[in-house]
Amino acid sequence: MTVPLAAMASGSGTNLQALLDHEDHGAAYRVALLITDRPCAAEGRARARGRPVHRVDFGEPGRTGDRVMRHLRHHGARGVLLAGFLKLVPATVCRAYRDRILNIHPAPLPSFGGRGMFGHRVHAAVLQSGASISGPTIHFVNERYDEGRILAQWPVPVLAEDSADTLAARVLKVEHVLYPAAADALARALATGWPDAGTGPAFVWPDARAGSRGPALRRAIIEAFGGEGEQT
Ligand code: GRF
Repeated sequence: MTVPLAAMASGSGTNLQALLDHEDHGAAYRVALLITDRPCAAEGRARARGRPVHRVDFGEPGRTGDRVMRHLRHHGARGVLLAGFLKLVPATVCRAYRDRILNIHPAPLPSFGGRGMFGHRVHAAVLQSGASISGPTIHFVNERYDEGRILAQWPVPVLAEDSADTLAARVLKVEHVLYPAAADALARALATGWPDAGTGPAFVWPDARAGSRGPALRRAIIEAFGGEGEQT
């Protein structure tokens, strides 16, 4: 039994593709619909897998939240996965899906996030900072850009010869494995009764401060990486 989740995207949709592909390998979720805010390649990826696509006009304040909620309810979505979605999620949706919306960001948070920090700007900022480690962050979504509680992170070394392009490409490969694992963790948590029991999955990879659901996510990530094991 899979848990229906919605995806929201604005761009090329390679993370969406990774989420869809993972469904063929025993995912705990099913992407039940895609919501977009503009024409984008992600729409074609969803349609190619027979998934309904709803384009919502985010230029109409006040009505956007209701529209998104209508689509989510219609398809029975129990959670939401932002996969390269560039708009702020409407407050109505944040409230209705508190602790059930995940986003993936291509760098460590909170250092390299916030309004306007997307695409190559993020990787350029990492390079400019002189940081030796980057890597994707998966976090819960609230009403503010990139501020929700962190669920998972995976370290990717910054190489001396990196450009924003090469760093972005290396981080993106990790995103494609980490996001399906985190989506599985969310789906499993939803399927086993959370959030009635508490605050939802809590786990920061590779930090050991794991909540009760941490070990399951930890195993999921290790399995997803082919038994690569611990990183520090
Ligand atoms: C990814 O780098 C993701 O971290 C960020 O937006 C990008 C989306 O890429 N949120 P794609 O559309 O999944 O290819």
